[in-house]
This record gives sequence, structure tokens and C-alpha cells, in this order.
Amino acid sequence: MRKAKIVVDKMYELADVDPRLYGSFIEHLGRAVYTGIYEPGHLCADQYGFRQDVIELVKPLQIPIIRYPGGNFVSNYNWEDGVGPERKSRLDLAWRSLETNEFGLNEFAKWTQAVGAEMMMAVNLGTSGIQEACNLLEYCNHEKGTYYSDLRRQHGVEKPHGIKTWCLGNEMDGEWQIGRKTAQEYGRLAAETGKAMKLVDDSIELVSCGSSFEKMPTFPEWEATSLSHTYDYVDYVSIHQYYGNQAHDTEDYLASTQDMENFIKTVVATCDYIKAKKRSKKTLNLSFDEWNVWFHSIESDDKAMKKTPWQVGPHLLEDVYTFEDALMVGLMLIMILKHADRIKIACLAQLVNVIAPIMTEPSGGVFKQTTYYPFLHVSNYGRGKVMIPLIQSDKHDTSGHEDVSDIEAVAVYNQENEEMTVFAVNRNIHEPVDLKIHLRDFQNSRVLDYQVMESKNMVVVNSMAEERVYPGFKDDYTFDGDEFETVLTPASWNVIRFSVK
Ligand code: AHR
Repeated sequence: MRKAKIVVDKMYELADVDPRLYGSFIEHLGRAVYTGIYEPGHLCADQYGFRQDVIELVKPLQIPIIRYPGGNFVSNYNWEDGVGPERKSRLDLAWRSLETNEFGLNEFAKWTQAVGAEMMMAVNLGTSGIQEACNLLEYCNHEKGTYYSDLRRQHGVEKPHGIKTWCLGNEMDGEWQIGRKTAQEYGRLAAETGKAMKLVDDSIELVSCGSSFEKMPTFPEWEATSLSHTYDYVDYVSIHQYYGNQAHDTEDYLASTQDMENFIKTVVATCDYIKAKKRSKKTLNLSFDEWNVWFHSIESDDKAMKKTPWQVGPHLLEDVYTFEDALMVGLMLIMILKHADRIKIACLAQLVNVIAPIMTEPSGGVFKQTTYYPFLHVSNYGRGKVMIPLIQSDKHDTSGHEDVSDIEAVAVYNQENEEMTVFAVNRNIHEPVDLKIHLRDFQNSRVLDYQVMESKNMVVVNSMAEERVYPGFKDDYTFDGDEFETVLTPASWNVIRFSVK
């Protein structure tokens, strides 16, 4: 049988888990807002039009921060259209949809309170600039006595929103972006915008736009050039990445977190290069503010946007996720945790209906996609300190990757609860793997529980009618207080929780 061993040593700590690693994203796109989180008239809607059935599924995910309002949407968005008594309908050029602006930032602030999250706000650096970003920040964070802070109060929001984290634009390197810029142009504008925003409120944190994805032709030169302008004014650089199994090659698909790791390492190296070049004392961290699986809907969405544009809340990016997609989401979460020393924010893109773990039907029900569960597990049990796991695993090659370890894993130690959780994926889809976990220097350890998601059918999905993919408990393991042993089924997501001292 194939073998793997994981050693978790009490001394090998990587970093504290920043709770914001379990962030998410709501964009004015498709049905994320309209008929997603907001549907006045729905049987489950409260007095604000917020669907309570959706909120009930969001809450267990314990999401601390949610990015808003885009995404590509933000690059053509005038936030003033979405506040106050008179809302203006506009063409949203990013998604060729009709934006009624019935729902805007004050509604979103109320909704985030309902789910216990804080807002992460993006400013428009596509069609707008410094003045508009400062006005928005003044509206959100300044207490009173100025035009925009008093306007907020007139709009019924007395207390400032106090938004701490701000993205300076979105994917400004992308050809698809409204108001796309060169790295020089973006760097200059973002630096001046960031400088001015910190004069409005010096308690905020800023995110400089990184490349839209690793395969962008301008990566990593985009980071090097734009950061040479923004480095002194910002706190993070963004990183975005989506994966998909377009080639119907599951083995190779599940190996793509190797690429994700290279991407992260290169962004970190580029930040550190600029740090050295500037003789700066500041270390820039990463905001992985868009990550997920996205491929199922791309072709049909392109057609829909051409054929039937200017719909309110159209069906866009409604990927229905398979079992293997859930494994991929688990693998991506593990990779984010393995780099928690430099990644401080990460947003699962997105949360409801749009490439999302939660799906709704207009006027109908709600269901959890397959990908809901790995996120739920990691957000619930992955708080504390990431331990550097020493992993010895048999390896395999795939069509596009070499030396892919069968087992990918990470461990998180929650000192407060005296718990250690090991998250492990067996991405060998053909063979089981005998796994030993050795907890070094932990005392009085015992297994709390062992949860697993497994399936022989890689493309099975959940739907409104039936939840076919969900985790179960497993008890065929041995543990002598020191070494845990079990057999991981091929293609499985495993969560093993220990009580430790
Ligand atoms: O999350 C969907 C889209 O993906 C976002 O609008 C954009 O930033 C990215 O390309």
C-alpha cells in the first residue's frame, strides 16, 4: 500500500492564523445580491429584504470579512448611486447587467452585521480616482461635520461604518477591466489615492492590485513595477487565482496547487525584492482576495452576456460544483494555510450564487454546494497557529505536474481550546494511502473526531432536490496517544481533530 507520514512538532510553528483567511466576497454580479442575499418579498426575507435562509447557511461558516462591491463591477461603479433615497439605475459594463442600485453600501453594511462579518471595500480606480475614493472613505469612516459624513447621517446611518481594509481598484492589469492601466499608470494612481486616503483616515489598511492570475503575461513585472510606486503607502498586495478541470483530467487538476504555491512564492519574492530595493523596514503581506474553482459556467456566461444583456440579477457564474471541486477547494485552503506567514487575508470568491458555496432559487429554497464543507471545516477548526507539518508521502506524476505528493496536509493548533486539527487530502484518485500522524511533544492526546468526504464519483453534485456530497464520521483508525494511523481512501478530504496539551 502507498504510504505517508506527517510529523507535527510542538516547536515547529509557522504563524498565527489571521482569522481574515476565512474571508469571502459579494460582488454586484449575477444573483449574488439580487435573489441571493437580498430578495424582498421572499417568504424568508426580513424587513430589510435579507433572506434569512441564506443567512442561516452563511453564519456557520464564521466569515470574519467580506469584500464588496467587486470585482470587475467596481471599476465602473459610482457608489453614490447606491445610497440615500434616490437610487439611479445604471448599465454595469463589467457584466453587461442592469444595476438598479436598490441595494448599496449601507444595506451591505447591515447585512454583514447580520452575519457577523466586517466589510472589505474596493474603490473604483477604473473610471474614477482619488477624489471619489476619498469621498467614499469620508462617507464611511468620518464621524460627522463634513459633507459626506453628514450625508451618511442624513441617510440614517449615524455611526461611521469604520471600514478598515480597502482595495485600491481591482485587477487593473486585465484587458477585460473597465479603465485598465499599465503597471506604471496604476502604480502612480494607486500610490496617490492611497496617500490621500490615509490622510482622510490613517487607521485604514490598503491593498495594492497584483496580477489577475499567474498566467498573465505581465506577471510578475506588474507587481514589481506597481509596487515600486505603492509600496510605502499600502499594507498588502492582492493575489487572485481560480482553477478548473476544463481538460477533464482529475489527477492533473488536483495537482494544480503546485502552481498555486509557485505563484504565492513568486509574489512574496517580488514584494521582498521591492522591500530590499527601497531599503524599507516594512514587510508587505498578501491579500489572496479572490480564490476558488471557476470554469463550469464560463462558456455559457459569455454567450448569455452577448445574447441577453442588461438583465437585473441574471444567472451568471452559477457553477455547480462537483465532488472533485470540493477536494480542490480543500487543497487550496491547505495551501493558503501553509503560507499563513505571509497571507493575512483570503476571500473565497464568492459567497452566494456566483461561484459560490451557497445557492438559492429566486422565490425558492437554498442549498449547500459540495465546496461548502471544506470551507466550513477549515474555518471552524483552523483557528490558532499553523504548524509546519513535516510530510513524507509517496508521489505520482500527472499529465502536467511531476512529483505530486499523494497526501497534501496542514495542521492547526488551537492553544486556547487545546485542540490540534490535521486537514489532509488524498489526491491519489486511484489508490488508498496508509497515513501515520505523529504528534511530537504534545501530551495527553486523544482523537476528538475524524470527519471525511469521499466519493467514487468525481462529478457528483448537490442540488436543491438532493444533498449527495457531505461529510461523515469515520472510526477505523488507531491511536496510541502518540501515533495515529488510518487508511485514507482515494480522492478524499479528511479532518482529524485531536485534543492535545
Ligand atoms: O469573482 C469573479 C470575477 O473574477 C471578479 O469580478 C474579478 O475580479 C475576477 O476576474
